[in-house]
Amino acid sequence: MDKLETERAAAATYERIADRYAAALETKPHNAYYDRPAVISLWPNVAGLDVLDTGCGPGVYAEELVNRGARVTAGDISARMCELASVRLAGRATVTPLDLAANLPAAEAAFDMINAPLCLDYVRDWRHVFSEFFRVLRPGGIVIMSAAHPDFDAEYFKTDAYFDVESVEATWSGFGEPFRMNCYRRSLADFINPPLEAGFRLDRLLEPLPTEQFRQADPRRHERLMRRPSFLMMRLQRP
Ligand SMILES: C[S@@+](CC[C@H](N)C(=O)[O-])C[C@H]1O[C@@H](n2cnc3c(N)ncnc32)[C@H](O)[C@@H]1O
Repeated sequence: MDKLETERAAAATYERIADRYAAALETKPHNAYYDRPAVISLWPNVAGLDVLDTGCGPGVYAEELVNRGARVTAGDISARMCELASVRLAGRATVTPLDLAANLPAAEAAFDMINAPLCLDYVRDWRHVFSEFFRVLRPGGIVIMSAAHPDFDAEYFKTDAYFDVESVEATWSGFGEPFRMNCYRRSLADFINPPLEAGFRLDRLLEPLPTEQFRQADPRRHERLMRRPSFLMMRLQRP
């Protein structure tokens, strides 16, 4: 698949599976007991901050941000995800269509923080993404993001082209009827350098551990995650 095909295929898949994704998200161990606790541990006190939640899905993170007192704009490429987020947020946040591969629908220096969990694996050009994040953040503003760990993906997709950003396809079976998901895998350098080149300072790199609730829900995967990480998180700051 070429660049645009992979991005379009991922967006189309999310549109198709949005309702079952939303139904599973609250309690699916990789989200509820691995990604979210780790990402939230990187948040500052968000009360009173203007926060952009990108790739917001059905709005679970956006709701958490609102509950903590942030003024939230949440956006996703999938119209159905945006609808689900709007219903969940019930007017407490602005929900807007947003394509991370394009220019963001926001003015310069509009936000104090960008939350971007598990949505950047579907975009090839992180240089563009992080230059847009830089543009819409105020000086001192931060990005908190999570994505597939390059080490995990290199092994999972059995790559023999580690240094390339590769279009890859996985079968997802944790959301009912299995389906194919398209995304990109990249090297560690291609994970960390795009935000640095955009002007960000790397404030913290986090290789998360699963929580105790994860162990109770799925002991086998918990045991594996205690030995090898699946996700990698960064907190970045615009100087
Ligand atoms: C794994 S889900 C994560 C949802 C949410 N961030 C969370 O962690 O609960 C990935 C989300 O990214 C969205 N997405 C995929 N490609 C995108 C793009 N190019 N621009 C914006 N959102 C995109 C999908 O529609 C989906 O809602």
